[in-house]
Amino acid sequence: MRNKSPLRPALTAGLASLLIVAAGYGLAGPERVAFPKGYQTWIKYTVVERPDRKIVRNMYVNPEAHARAKAGEPIPDGTVLVMEDMKVDLSATGTPEIGPDGRFVPTGEVVGLFVMEKQKGWGEAIPADKRNGDWDYSSFAVDGTVRPNLNTSGCFSCHLSRTGERDFTFTYAKVLLDTAKR
Ligand code: HEC
Repeated sequence: MRNKSPLRPALTAGLASLLIVAAGYGLAGPERVAFPKGYQTWIKYTVVERPDRKIVRNMYVNPEAHARAKAGEPIPDGTVLVMEDMKVDLSATGTPEIGPDGRFVPTGEVVGLFVMEKQKGWGEAIPADKRNGDWDYSSFAVDGTVRPNLNTSGCFSCHLSRTGERDFTFTYAKVLLDTAKR
């Protein structure tokens, strides 16, 4: 689907560099990371419970990429990872309820979507000391609008700490590695 036309990558790179000059690299991401339409039908590869935020974070990967991903190798170009933050049921004292399965009980209310996407050459638009390989980042509300005042430089700085075979991901490469070990 993406970059079918040979012009697309050149145009994208050109646009990205213009944006960098105009507004800093923080704005490069939202321009090229698309809203992950239909992500609910993708592969939900893990769930992270966050009692501090009273949410669960449902993690999705697009199936085409997941089929090609192998533990210990760089995650393939075209990979899209979506983190869906969802509220959980709370007790009278405001702590997360625990369901019969021992897990938090999601309410279904999504409070935010965080997306990281990897495409060949994307990292070239990012300053070398911030670059996360070829990953770029964005964040959306459920209606598909980009978060107001989004600045993706924080995404780059924090994810930069997941080096080597983690490929800048906190959960995805780890799940691949853990699954391979079993
Ligand atoms: C302070 C550190 C920090 C910042 C800043 C940050 N993240 Fe993350 N991110 C995490 C952690 C930690 C996880 C794993 C989930 C958890 O423990 O809550 C994660 C998970 C993710 C995931 C799921 C894939 C993975 O790596 O596990 C995506 C997608 C993601 N973040 C996107 C973003 C985006 C987009 C931004 C910026 C708007 C961002 N993150 C900013 C720390 C950060």
